[in-house]
Amino acid sequence: MSTRMTLGERLQSQGVSRRAFLKFCAATTSLMALPPTMVSAVAAALDRAKRPSVIWLSFQECTGCTESLTRSDGPTLERLIFDAISLDYHHTLQAASGEAAEAARASAMADNWGQYVVLVDGAIPLGNPGFSTIAGISNVDMLMETVTGAAAVVAIGSCAAFGGIPKASPNPTGAVSVGHLVQDKPIINVSGCPPIPVVITGVLAHLLTFGTIPDLDPHGRPMAFFGETIHDRCYRRPFYEKGLFAESFDDEGAKKGWCLYRLGCKGPVTYNACAVTKWNGGVSYPIQSGHGCIGCSEPNFWDKGGFYEALARGRFATPAALATAALAGAAVGAGATLLARHRQKKATAQEKQS
Ligand code: SF4
Ligand code: F3S
Repeated sequence: MSTRMTLGERLQSQGVSRRAFLKFCAATTSLMALPPTMVSAVAAALDRAKRPSVIWLSFQECTGCTESLTRSDGPTLERLIFDAISLDYHHTLQAASGEAAEAARASAMADNWGQYVVLVDGAIPLGNPGFSTIAGISNVDMLMETVTGAAAVVAIGSCAAFGGIPKASPNPTGAVSVGHLVQDKPIINVSGCPPIPVVITGVLAHLLTFGTIPDLDPHGRPMAFFGETIHDRCYRRPFYEKGLFAESFDDEGAKKGWCLYRLGCKGPVTYNACAVTKWNGGVSYPIQSGHGCIGCSEPNFWDKGGFYEALARGRFATPAALATAALAGAAVGAGATLLARHRQKKATAQEKQS
């Protein structure tokens, strides 16, 4: 019954003040990367929004995506669960187990047919259905059965979005992404290993507020969060432009916070919001902690060469060009970025054709 109440009614019945509600709307607007002028429109939409039923399925994963969500600092998880969405099934978080848990999934589907949202973390093994089962049901069967009546599917994390680490060579379980199997439902890929918690909640907030699928990039990721590279918004970018690169993790350049490009940073080809939203309540992100971006939100990041190998090495340049790059500094760095972008666009186009 609670899923039939609007969010406004729900909050009112719980004694939440208008002021607190508007504060929540302002936070949600910011999560969706919308301008502050949209707060009143978001408030009006959320006031009327029905709490959607959400079914969360976890397959071949490490639980890092759920861990990420439970550290969400936007709408807190508690608020997300009890006020904004109705999380009717989640292996890790639900109290029910066994037959009672499966009954909860069946009833959430029946009661909200055509309207519920399925969140999936983890890849799906096709090599042998027995590699990963829940309540005796293979991952592939559970996924295909659950999405049948879904309004939309959100693939949380790089494993669900692209296959991730389970799919890394030699892919012993025959792991595939959600999008590989589900062809007839809108899918939003929220990649990352794990994904940024406020990006997960931001996408849910968009679905809740507008009831539509957000604008997506060629990899099915929401543009609001994946429209720019880490490099585009990296605070070390001025050093990159000046050709000031750390050569080791303990040299003077590293101590001065210079660019980590030559230490393997994949920021120039990685689309994600880390440099803007940061992690742990906006405290930091990998590059701010002194380590290059490993490109965890990109397809097949695990198989794209060494994490500590400069982007130009083996990808964009011959050994002779590398020697030139070492001398040319920023100019070559900029060139590598353009080449990387060109390569990314080409790869995306090829992926779409295949
Ligand atoms: Fe930042 Fe990495 Fe770009 Fe350097 S290469 S500016 S560390 S994202
Ligand atoms: Fe992943 Fe790079 Fe962000 S490694 S966490 S996309 S900075």
